[in-house]
Amino acid sequence: MDTILVLDFGGQYNQLIARRVRECGVYSVVRSWKTPVEEILAEGYKGIILTGGPLSVYDAESPKADPELFALGIPVLGICYGAQMMAQQLGGKVSPAANGEFGHSELIMTADSALLDGLMPESDCFMSHNDHIDTVPSGFKATAKTASCAIAAMEDTLRGLYAVQFHPEVEHTEIGRGLFKSFVEKICGCEKNWTMDSFIKNTVNEIREQAGDAPLLCALSGGVDSSVAAVLAHEAVGDRLTCIFVDHGLMRKGEGDQVERIFRGQFSINLIRVNCQDRFLARLKGVEDPERKRKIIGEEFVRVFEEESKKLGDVGYLVQGTIYPDVIESGLGDAAVIKSHHNVGGMPSEMDFKGVIEPLRLLFKDEVRQCGLQLGIEETLVRRQPFPGPGLGVRVLGEVTVEKLEILREADAIYREELEKAGLAGSINQYFAVLPGIKSVGVMGDGRTYDYTIALRGVTTIDFMTAEWARIPYDVLQKVSSRIVGEVKCVNRIVYDITSKPPATIEWE
Ligand code: XMP
Repeated sequence: MDTILVLDFGGQYNQLIARRVRECGVYSVVRSWKTPVEEILAEGYKGIILTGGPLSVYDAESPKADPELFALGIPVLGICYGAQMMAQQLGGKVSPAANGEFGHSELIMTADSALLDGLMPESDCFMSHNDHIDTVPSGFKATAKTASCAIAAMEDTLRGLYAVQFHPEVEHTEIGRGLFKSFVEKICGCEKNWTMDSFIKNTVNEIREQAGDAPLLCALSGGVDSSVAAVLAHEAVGDRLTCIFVDHGLMRKGEGDQVERIFRGQFSINLIRVNCQDRFLARLKGVEDPERKRKIIGEEFVRVFEEESKKLGDVGYLVQGTIYPDVIESGLGDAAVIKSHHNVGGMPSEMDFKGVIEPLRLLFKDEVRQCGLQLGIEETLVRRQPFPGPGLGVRVLGEVTVEKLEILREADAIYREELEKAGLAGSINQYFAVLPGIKSVGVMGDGRTYDYTIALRGVTTIDFMTAEWARIPYDVLQKVSSRIVGEVKCVNRIVYDITSKPPATIEWE
């Protein structure tokens, strides 16, 4: 399959670049800038994209491409830092700007360009740089500018080298999608054969081959990844797949039943639902420290899973919902984004499986959702927002009790329902209620109350590593607040969390 290599120099939008390429129907992979040129050549990529990065080309420790990369005869597109590095390494001049350029700029084409041909001659673009290219290397010509950047794009069509100072992968860059299409289709000559249909067909075949006659086991969490992985595995091996769903009682309202309805009901998958709320609550009794709670929930989950899988006898392969960003992060090692949380679904290595099957290891999250929809999984599950493995265990602050879980579940359900009704669910990346455990004085009717506070959290974010608090309209907050205090017993006060991450985290524990 025709493939574009995205060489990662540490920029924050790098995975977005790979996704944009895939949106053009062309497969892309992300690899470290350290990947040796011989390997790149051997793997037969049709094009290479050099990403942005946090450093200046003048920093002693800044990563540098192997200059041979520019002489392989494979088209190269440098973006931001990638563009500056290309200019510097090929003999052009890069200078630190007096003022950096951050945010929106007007991009104006200044010469005929193979890369920008057919795109808007004047458009809005997104810039984020201090250094800029002053002089293009010999053989290149400048093809676009902005008010404060004379060389916003350059190219040497003879050598197949292209560079842009702006970020075409970012939504605000109007010609971004067109630029990627132009690069992968026209310049690299890629065939568009990355489609969800072909992915599903190939993956189902691969699972069949890998599994042979062995049975498969999958831990369902109710999350998007494990759900889609399970349905793919079921397409491949049917009844030889068994799913274990450990219901720890820390899910949101109605979620456990939804999992059962979809997997057992709709897909006729062998599903073992282990209802073990009491067991988890017993282990959590008296425990207040968040990290201890996380550890206990994680350990208990694995223990239940092990017990259940032993009952099944020979379990062959374990199906896991690992997705491409996890693969990239573990492969790059030095990536700026290091995942700090492990899903509760993580299995102990000593478990006796023939191996692990990871049907989603090539997909980005939005592709996983698309795959899920194509397999017929309902939207409410496929579009589900992220939910931490330890569930409400880390949203009831301090000791977790049945009473607090019940209150939180009800308040959270109202909050989610109102945001969905207000049409905000798609634009707020994560939103949930928290029970901080404090009680305060209120007045209801003629009487004094002394009840719990519910905190509402809502954030917008690209990668969940940083986040901004969502500007939910006051009238929506008002509706949520009056419904929660009116409908949920033992709650008399609602607050909205207006801290970004950092300094706060998204979850409260
Ligand atoms: P924080 O609170 O660190 O959360 O800003 C970032 C993202 O990670 C999720 N999260 C978790 N996910 N196990 C998980 O699987 C956990 O222990 C955990 N803690 C936080 C959180 O919901 C957010 O999406």
